[in-house]
Amino acid sequence: MKKFFVTTPIYYLNGEPHLGHYYANTIADVMARYHRQFGAGAFFLTGTDEHGQKVSEAAQKNNLSPQDYTDKMSNIWQEAWDNLGLSYDYFIRTTNLVHKALCQFVITKLLASDDVYLHKYEALYCVGAESFVTQSELREGGLCPDHDEKPQIVLENNYFFRLTKYKERIRKLIEQDIIKVIPESRKNETLELLNNPDVGDFSVTREKVSWGIPVPFDTTQTLYVWIDALFNYMSGVLASQNIDIQDLSADEILAKIQDIWAPDLQVIGKDIMKFHTIFWPAFLLALGVTEDKLPKTMLVTGFFLSGGRKMSKSIGNVIIPKDIVREFNQVTDNLGNDILRYVILREMRIGNDGDITKEKIIGIYESELVNKFGNTFSRIVGMAKKYEIENLDLQNKSVEEYHQAMKNYDIYEAINILLEKISIIGQQIETIKPWELYKTGQILELEKNIQKWLQDLAWITEAIQPIMPNTYEKMQKLLNGENLQIFPRM
Ligand code: MSP
Repeated sequence: MKKFFVTTPIYYLNGEPHLGHYYANTIADVMARYHRQFGAGAFFLTGTDEHGQKVSEAAQKNNLSPQDYTDKMSNIWQEAWDNLGLSYDYFIRTTNLVHKALCQFVITKLLASDDVYLHKYEALYCVGAESFVTQSELREGGLCPDHDEKPQIVLENNYFFRLTKYKERIRKLIEQDIIKVIPESRKNETLELLNNPDVGDFSVTREKVSWGIPVPFDTTQTLYVWIDALFNYMSGVLASQNIDIQDLSADEILAKIQDIWAPDLQVIGKDIMKFHTIFWPAFLLALGVTEDKLPKTMLVTGFFLSGGRKMSKSIGNVIIPKDIVREFNQVTDNLGNDILRYVILREMRIGNDGDITKEKIIGIYESELVNKFGNTFSRIVGMAKKYEIENLDLQNKSVEEYHQAMKNYDIYEAINILLEKISIIGQQIETIKPWELYKTGQILELEKNIQKWLQDLAWITEAIQPIMPNTYEKMQKLLNGENLQIFPRM
């Protein structure tokens, strides 16, 4: 049976992961855990994007060779994700040999099918964004839209990809939701981009960037980020299974990984949408990949802002996840990771921007985790103990709405459904007044109600597992009679 295949962007290596990066990885982690818990299993891929000018400049600044620098930095990323409890199945580095071989295979195929051609090119390039920018996109002072730097003029011979040949096919795929772009507003934006004549053939190699994958048929060129970066989604699966692609066709390669391929969910930020919703499927089509083997859903996230601007390593306004986790670990029994997951999923509904501050984080913790989840669990388990009511066998009752929300990748809504369930239980306690049933000797009635609530909590516990895996264990212990408080007040 095919596993649910979920990917995150691969991250540039300068600096360590901040909350903006953590967000995509958290969504991917929740969806992977959801499909492991309730579905046919999952394959969760993340990694690092290690080539390009920005990385080689950073290596130089640190007096390291690019290889030593990327070894060191990718370790930092991997360790950060491990410490944050992310359950990725494979960590792909673009310096991986399987990845290099795949990218070289891709560019060779694209040349053979005349999907790439050599072209003399003059354009503005922002190293911070690792991206070409047009005059019209520049901010005041000629600055890059997302970075505080002036793009450089580059004049080079580059290989260009014939995107124009594929735009119409891509439009149909997006319109018909064969490649589903969510939220809807991003689907419309993608369709608008397809109308824009500026979105045309684009450069896939660079002439003067030595830290990159060599183009096998032209020693003056290295691959430029987007073939190199995007094909991590395929090489990551191949590398995880040590598959040697030599002498295989594109079809044969995909057949080797059919228990995982195609991606079901690709979580991406809005700044890299065009590359994923347009360029990526176009590359795959050019390789002869059939429509049923294209990525299924692109989930486009907004940005975490800080001080009104995108949280960014280059701007320097970042919040580092482990700093927040550490604080919550001190007041809870090591639930810092879970609490941060919960809070960012609540603060930023998928698609919107979010502005996060420490006060907000504590506010959400107190009002939802302490007052609603924590309080309801303690109350009911407390009553069951006090009135000596035995728990029934905990069975996993499914709640259709929750599963529907998760199928729509709407984790925010899934949490809402759990919170609603919690408040219904709260209201029921107030109307049924178990303490009075006890006083008046209506023990059967008392037992029936508390057992029902315990069942509800057992279900909430199951449903919370993908969202807060450590809390899940605590809730189970609590329901099994252990004395503990899950979420103490700050
Ligand atoms: N390496 C490329 C992506 C290649 S994917 C095949 C890249 N790297 S990045 O490190 O600059 O950004 C990676 C992801 O992090 C992007 O999706 C970007 O949107 C996301 N974020 C970076 N800062 C962010 C916020 N402040 N908030 C939310 N996400 C943000 O682009």
